[in-house]
Amino acid sequence: MRALALITTLGTTLGLAACGLDDPPVQPSWQVDVMPVLAANCVRCHTYPTLGFAAPGLRLDSYDPVEVVEFDAPIDGAAHNATLIAQRIQYSKYRPGLTVMPPGREMGDYEIGVLRNWGGLVDGSMMAPRGPGRADNRAPELTLTELGRDASYVVFGYEVRDADRDLVVGSLYGPRLDAGNRLVTDVIGDLTSGRGTFAVSLVGIAAGSYELTARLDDGADVDGPEGTNDFVELSLGMLVLP
Ligand code: HEC
Repeated sequence: MRALALITTLGTTLGLAACGLDDPPVQPSWQVDVMPVLAANCVRCHTYPTLGFAAPGLRLDSYDPVEVVEFDAPIDGAAHNATLIAQRIQYSKYRPGLTVMPPGREMGDYEIGVLRNWGGLVDGSMMAPRGPGRADNRAPELTLTELGRDASYVVFGYEVRDADRDLVVGSLYGPRLDAGNRLVTDVIGDLTSGRGTFAVSLVGIAAGSYELTARLDDGADVDGPEGTNDFVELSLGMLVLP
């Protein structure tokens, strides 16, 4: 309303373009525009694991698919679901029986506009683009602490921090037995913003020193518009099994 009033009073004399101050961006950026809307309205249910019986096949706290400990296939992030997101946030005659998201509450026009415009950018890759991140973005940080261990488990506590308060998702990589009982380096812990703990099985893993690394994604475009490795890789030292 504010923007409209401005245009009607000044528009004719100054020739302002018909574009209001409160219009959603035409090309929303994941980190700057989309992630905050999803964080405020969707992520309390659509994270991992999901809450409130939300569909487990997608998570809205990540742009990219995320590898998790429990499943072989990564869980799709928001980018692959941008069209579905745009369809589910307003009543649609094409999906008449389905609950409008978020359930029981209507988002504002600006927020709906951001998600719809982002869905409109889905291209031949079937994904909506990440777009440029914040110019002065600060990288996420991780502290990993061993809380205890016995012969079969080691328990870690972690804290993922982000000075810009971006949503952060990631994975901890270390030694693990695959389905064929071969020792591989794979996801051994699931990481999200804030603090958490998880146990890593040591059963069947021989004595030795194993490197621990983590990948964290705060939504930033780390390697340019063409690149797909948009995460920070951290080295966390060695897991020593005597
Ligand atoms: C209170 C919990 C809750 C919140 C908040 C919430 N959802 Fe959902 N969402 C659900 C549940 C439950 C389902 C599964 C039932 C259904 O499809 O209606 C679902 C389903 C979906 C689906 C369909 C998934 C599929 O695989 O078909 C999409 C897309 C979705 N939500 C997007 C959103 C978006 C975008 C927001 C925020 C704007 C949001 N949701 C907020 C609980 C929630």
